[in-house]
Amino acid sequence: MRLDKFVSHATGLPREISKRVVRKKQVQVNGIVVTNAAYQVAATDQVVFDDELLVISGPRYLMLHKPVGYVCATEDGDHPIVLDLLNDMDPQGLSIAGRLDIDTTGLVLLSDDGQWLHRVTSPRHLFAKVYRAQLHSPVDEQTIAAFASGMLLRGEDKPTAPAQCVALADNEAEVTLNEGRYHQVKRMFAACGNHVLALHRLKIGAVTLDADLAPGEYRALTADEIASFQP
Ligand code: URA
Repeated sequence: MRLDKFVSHATGLPREISKRVVRKKQVQVNGIVVTNAAYQVAATDQVVFDDELLVISGPRYLMLHKPVGYVCATEDGDHPIVLDLLNDMDPQGLSIAGRLDIDTTGLVLLSDDGQWLHRVTSPRHLFAKVYRAQLHSPVDEQTIAAFASGMLLRGEDKPTAPAQCVALADNEAEVTLNEGRYHQVKRMFAACGNHVLALHRLKIGAVTLDADLAPGEYRALTADEIASFQP
């Protein structure tokens, strides 16, 4: 791994700052100052930054409260991406488990552990996703029945898996899905003649969005939250 990336991973400093501290002779490898950020750190190298031995900790697991206007992608030419919100860590290597639309808010999980990400998103494991939808019209009995029995969405040949739709006050509904198709909640309500005005994800599997996280904030997952995606 490159030296600037190593420093960034070990300290949580953004990559640009890590490059700068390397250039400013603040980093030593095996007792010798190295100013080349592209230096390839070997497994046996001892990297020291400001007199502190750096070690790379294990993979990262995060929950983020996605605000409106951010894209769940690792790059996008037109809009800010959720990784831009990780202001005190190097986003390099992090991927998103289960994307949300640009105008959807709520729980997004991120990690650099590929196997864990696969488990969270794999249709084989069926970790339910819970959404709160603000709708144009109240939810009627036909909608609840259509969600429960599954419906054929436009352009698709396989009906949706049984889903739960619970009507709440003020034209709101709580929806639980066991799969993740493109714009699925919006398309299911549209197929029932309704329209989603706002959508918020509350939960994936056993992990609930932390009420202390304001939009744009994030925190590390607890050990129990990480383990809850074990099969
Ligand atoms: N369903 C949608 O329609 N949009 C999302 O962002 C997530 C689920």
